[in-house]
Amino acid sequence: MKSYDLIIIGGGPAGYVAAERAGEKGLKVLLTEHRHLGGVCLNEGCIPSKTLLHSAKLYHYATHSEAYGVQTEKASFNFIPVQERKNRIINTLRKGLSGLMKKNKVDVVTGRGKLLPDGGVEVNGDIFQSDNILIATGSSPAAPPIPGNDLSKVLDSTGILECNTAPDNIVIIGGGVIGCEFACFFGSIGVPVTVIEMLPEICPSVDQEIAAGLRRELEKKNISFHLNARVEEITEKTVVFSSDGKSSSVERDLVLMAAGRTPNTDGLGLEARRVGFDRGGIHVNERCATNIPGVWAAGDVTGRVWLAHAASRMGEVVVNNISGKKDEMRYHTVPGVIYTNPEVATVGWTEAQARDKGWPVRTAKLPMTVNGRYLAEHDDERGLIKIVLHGETNALLGVHMIGGACSEMIFGAASMIEMEVRSDEIADMVFPHPTVSEVVRDAVLRAN
Ligand code: NAI
Repeated sequence: MKSYDLIIIGGGPAGYVAAERAGEKGLKVLLTEHRHLGGVCLNEGCIPSKTLLHSAKLYHYATHSEAYGVQTEKASFNFIPVQERKNRIINTLRKGLSGLMKKNKVDVVTGRGKLLPDGGVEVNGDIFQSDNILIATGSSPAAPPIPGNDLSKVLDSTGILECNTAPDNIVIIGGGVIGCEFACFFGSIGVPVTVIEMLPEICPSVDQEIAAGLRRELEKKNISFHLNARVEEITEKTVVFSSDGKSSSVERDLVLMAAGRTPNTDGLGLEARRVGFDRGGIHVNERCATNIPGVWAAGDVTGRVWLAHAASRMGEVVVNNISGKKDEMRYHTVPGVIYTNPEVATVGWTEAQARDKGWPVRTAKLPMTVNGRYLAEHDDERGLIKIVLHGETNALLGVHMIGGACSEMIFGAASMIEMEVRSDEIADMVFPHPTVSEVVRDAVLRAN
């Protein structure tokens, strides 16, 4: 029986980053993955969707360039080369990960890992021992029990990535992050899109003014929204939903189910090992430790935060704790991005969350159109930045943005929140000009 310092079940952003860090520290690591290294993020999530979205964005600009004085003719969106490019990128990154595991002397086994009741892990009938086991098995698209969800042309966020022709139209069930990103993709290439969301606004996890701004921007791209609308049934030709006690329907060709994700906890032997979990995921504390000493969990399987970069950080927290360095997750400093066009990027507390905590709160808002660089590059777009400050200490609590490629700016705000920077300190910093990032300082100055 082979023994390791750390056994990791699941080779996604939590698992492979933990393996890399543990390998760097000289730990003997076994990583077990039943499909491809990279998990959902690389194979059927972040990377493929961002690749498709980039092609859609280029097509959108090619067909909306007159405002910038550029005339283009005969722009077309060709699914086959777009998909080939996506697959090439995935393969390149998969190879990179294999190389990284080899470099760090991580043993990778293809197969499903399962905890054994008395310790250790079984993979393909072989038993491996370790004092530390990290469960990083990720999540899968949730399948709400909507009648008709098994009909043809009803896809989830994995199936839709393989789409290689433009549908006549698409109805998206769920106006969350996945729903909005795919709405933007299809809307940008000219496919009529309908989003059906059961809450009063899209993207419930995002500051609602920013979410409303995103909805208005997406409406410019052939996308219509039904809010406060609950889907009741999918038929061969329609999606039926109820709103205000009234039943309505929209015609459909393709349907995308984007109503959340479910942690992958089945078949892991959690019950027999008495690891605490429920439908929301495996229970962990801030050190990513479960109730069983030596059993750790990180990433989507914990249901704490459904983001690849948070998963990777959780993997690092586990490795640090195993190797004697106390480390904890600080979830509120993890930035989130919605890769629509325009993008949404947020970090820290929203105004509503800060007020719920009973803190004195000061906010400032600034339209991005006050910024020269933004105006030069975004003709028909209304970006917004909103900042949240602690009313007494002036600490920066939250930064929430919609506009352009604000994903590339949010790390700066995340660093400031992580370092508990105050608004007067930000006022003393110099930002490069002309960049859109200047709106962060300008919004802070407005609040001072
Ligand atoms: P989500 O939780 O963001 O949104 C699901 C939406 O569906 C909610 O707004 C919910 O109210 C709505 N909904 C649920 N059932 C419904 C029904 N029957 N009828 C109408 N609306 C219904 O989940 P989503 O978009 O599936 O994404 C899953 C997770 O993956 C999210 O937590 C997200 O943060 C993460 N993710 C992150 C990405 C990023 O960082 N860019 C990209 C994709 C996913």
